[in-house]
Amino acid sequence: MNNQTNTTRETILTGDRATGPLHLGHYVGSLKKRVSLQNEHDQTILVADIQGLTDNAHKPSKVSSNILNVVADYLAVGIDPLKTTICMQSQLPALAELTMYYSNLVTISRLERNPTVKSEIKSKGFNRSVPAGFLTYPISQAADITAFNATLVPVGDDQLPMLEQTNEIVRKINSLAGKFVLNECKPLLSNASRLPSTDGKNKMSKTMGNAINLGATEKEIRTAVHSMYTDPSHLRIEDPGNVDGNIVFTYLDAFYPDQEYVNQLKESYQRGGLGDGTTKKILEECLQELLKPIREHREFYLNDKAQLIEILRAGSEISKSKTNTLLHRVKDVFGLNIL
Ligand code: TRP
Repeated sequence: MNNQTNTTRETILTGDRATGPLHLGHYVGSLKKRVSLQNEHDQTILVADIQGLTDNAHKPSKVSSNILNVVADYLAVGIDPLKTTICMQSQLPALAELTMYYSNLVTISRLERNPTVKSEIKSKGFNRSVPAGFLTYPISQAADITAFNATLVPVGDDQLPMLEQTNEIVRKINSLAGKFVLNECKPLLSNASRLPSTDGKNKMSKTMGNAINLGATEKEIRTAVHSMYTDPSHLRIEDPGNVDGNIVFTYLDAFYPDQEYVNQLKESYQRGGLGDGTTKKILEECLQELLKPIREHREFYLNDKAQLIEILRAGSEISKSKTNTLLHRVKDVFGLNIL
């Protein structure tokens, strides 16, 4: 695991809010990449249960009931707990402590300017009743990242403002200390453009029923593909159709293994003569094939909850000591390690 000869070995931290089972958007956006990153880097994945509570404290079971589902999702796609440390945010007290220290370095107006938080506050209709924990979750995320002294954070572009705020905090700590204490982190942006929801209208969401979960049954996959948004003006098979904004083609681009074949399908669709029934059938077969082994593995892991808990416990134990080390360094900056 610790290949010292590889100088480009990065310390990677990623995480997911445990607010629902993971779906195909997570798969193309980040899970696939994590599976390959674990072979060359020192990777930790954080099940962000506390962050999940920042807008779900009134229904905490939405978080607690999904923690093991998310771990099963990780394992099912090929994340190997011998190569990747999987840990649980609420098991690491250093993260909460760091959040308290960092809170003194960040202003409310800076938090209100964070574009992702700003748009989430708007879309959730919080107005002035935004929970303090929600407004400040970028600080807690900075604690997550710096507690592992991460250098690389694979994220979607909506998370860039969090990394920017993290690096602002890092620079403040380093400048307070007058020496290097914490690493700045770089984003590793996923090159897969964000996968649209099956209805083509919204961002894919765990709760809106417009996503295909990794554990979706054969029937759920079929129903989702057959109800996908295509080109509403493509009425007859022989009519020329539009592939832009046609979700079936967006998914074929993302998942079909042979891009050349997808390009041929697109040409024939645009020319006229290829029906939505056929393109949906091709996509359905492809997704059934992709998801069958993932679903089976997922079920296998969920049938042995004790093993999932042990994986999380062991990963959290390792992470606890790593994050305590970083907490100690930060407390040092404030001159508090006097006892
Ligand atoms: N905010 C991330 C999300 O919404 C989850 C997350 C929590 C995270 N802590 C993190 C991501 C640290 C990267 C690094 O999915």
